[in-house]
Amino acid sequence: MFRNFCYLMSSILLIFSFQAYANGDIAAGKSKSSVCAACHGIDGNGAEALPMQPRLAGQHAEYTEKQLREFKSGSRNNAIMAPMVAALSDEDISDIAVYYASLKGTTGTSSPEHVDAGEKLYRAGDANTGLAACMACHGPAGNGNPAALYPSIAGQFAEYTAIQLKAFKSETRANDANNVMRSVASKMTNDEIDAVADYIEGLH
Ligand code: HEC
Ligand code: HEC
Repeated sequence: MFRNFCYLMSSILLIFSFQAYANGDIAAGKSKSSVCAACHGIDGNGAEALPMQPRLAGQHAEYTEKQLREFKSGSRNNAIMAPMVAALSDEDISDIAVYYASLKGTTGTSSPEHVDAGEKLYRAGDANTGLAACMACHGPAGNGNPAALYPSIAGQFAEYTAIQLKAFKSETRANDANNVMRSVASKMTNDEIDAVADYIEGLH
C-alpha cells in the first residue's frame, strides 16, 4: 500500500517536473510541423541524401524554441528557414519544439580516418590553441544540457555540423549567447572542423 502510494507520488512529481520546462502540446506540434517534414523527415531525422538539413528528433525543446524564435527575429540568419517560421506564433513554436523533443533521434557513423582526431578534439580540446573540449558543454555522449541551452549534437549529419561550425567561425551565425561557439570555432582549422563533425555523427 505504502509502496503504491510512493509510486503514485513519484509519477505525479514526474508529470510536474516535465511540465515545468516544456509547455507545448505534442499532438498540436505534430500537426503544425507537417510542412517541416519535407526537409526534416517524417520522424524528424532528416534524410541522408540532404545532410545540410539537420535532424531535429530528440533535440531539447528549449534549444529548438530558441532557434525558431531567432530564425523569426533574424538573429539567426537563414534564407531557407526564415519564411518557414514567419507565420508561427509563440504557441506554435512551443508545440513544435516539444513535438521534436518527443521523437527518437538516430545516429549515423563516423568514417574511420577521422575517428581518432575527432575524438581527441571532442574530449580534450587543444591546449596549444586554448580550444575547450566540446565534451565540457555538450557532454560525454553529446546530449548537451537543456537547462544551460547546450544542444544535443550527437548523431547529427557531419555536413550540417561542419556548416554550423564554419558559420560560427566566420560569424555568419552569431546567435550564441556570450560568443561561446564563435570563440570555440575561431580556434579551429577547417580540417579540425571536418574531423570533429564526422566524429559527432557517430557519437551516441
Ligand atoms: C525547404 C527545407 C526546409 C523546410 C521545409 C524546413 N526547414 Fe528547418 N532547416 C532547413 C535547413 C537547410 C536548416 C539549416 C539552416 C542553417 O544552416 O542554419 C534548417 C534548420 C532548422 C532548425 C535548426 C536546428 C538546429 O539544430 O539548430 C530548426 C529547429 C528547424 N530547421 C525547424 C524547422 C521547422 C519547425 C520547420 C517547419 C515549420 C522547418 N524547419 C522547415 C531546411 C528546412
Ligand atoms: C562553453 C560551452 C561550449 C563548448 C566548450 C562548446 N560548445 Fe557547442 N554550443 C554551445 C552552446 C551554448 C550552443 C548553442 C548556441 C545557440 O544558442 O545557438 C552550441 C552550439 C553548437 C552547435 C550547433 C548545433 C546545432 O544544432 O545547430 C554545434 C555543432 C556545436 N556547438 C559544436 C561544438 C563543438 C564541435 C565543440 C568543441 C570543438 C563545442 N561545440 C564546444 C556551447 C558550447
